[in-house]
Amino acid sequence: MIPDPHAKDAAPHDDGAAADTPAADKPDYPRRGIRSFVLRAGRMGSGQVKAMETLGPLYMLPYKAERLDFDQAFGRHAPTVLEIGFGMGDATAQIAAARPQDNFIGIEVHTPGVGALLQRISERGLTNLRLLQHDAVEVLRDMIAPGSLAGIHVYFPDPWHKKKHNKRRLIQAPFVHQLALHLAPGGYLHCATDWRPYAEQMLQVLGAEPLLANTAEGYAPRPDWRPLTKFENRGIKLGHGVWDLVFTRR
Ligand SMILES: C[S@@+](CC[C@H](N)C(=O)[O-])C[C@H]1O[C@@H](n2cnc3c(N)ncnc32)[C@H](O)[C@@H]1O
Repeated sequence: MIPDPHAKDAAPHDDGAAADTPAADKPDYPRRGIRSFVLRAGRMGSGQVKAMETLGPLYMLPYKAERLDFDQAFGRHAPTVLEIGFGMGDATAQIAAARPQDNFIGIEVHTPGVGALLQRISERGLTNLRLLQHDAVEVLRDMIAPGSLAGIHVYFPDPWHKKKHNKRRLIQAPFVHQLALHLAPGGYLHCATDWRPYAEQMLQVLGAEPLLANTAEGYAPRPDWRPLTKFENRGIKLGHGVWDLVFTRR
């Protein structure tokens, strides 16, 4: 049975189901036997299917095990921000629209979300947003040059509530170290969650990473430019709190 990253009572699962990606040349990289997501057969609306066909070739970057040239991908030179797990992409599109001076690369594995965000890119006429449908851990490892990112957004990553599934959480020390290495000096890592134990884990792990400095005394105020996400709205309706963390690369 497929575990649900949000279910507080998720069923047991087989971690070995996901293939390990060989990274013999990058021995310090976290092992990828355990993934932070489970691929589900999501229902695609006809608009999303059409968007994948017609807009995909324009705005999607294929996953390749080679460095991505940002200037070529966007047709300009600008600070580039990576978002991991944009979900349906509502917040991503709003942020890209509000910050036209920056480039954004959104990564998501869930096909309906990719289709939905492609539609938004087209509706809003966004020229500064590209999408990549692949495991973000591998994208970072294989396609993004160290020290090249102006920012990284990780908004409401799957909380994996059950203790035995906590190991699937994205924000853990080895991956956070990789995130930090891929930031340019002064670049920022912005995480948000509505699950208190995960917020505490984030604060502990980010605070322990020597390459990162906290911009706040603990949790940070939500920056004006981060709109509420779809997932966040659902959590707020359920009475959850929300915790933002903003760290910068030393
Ligand atoms: C809880 S949802 C939050 C979505 C969105 N950020 C929001 O706040 O509405 C987390 C998303 O991260 C995606 N995800 C998890 N691990 C990922 C990975 N390694 N690479 C790409 N996407 C991932 C999942 O598919 C899911 O859509």
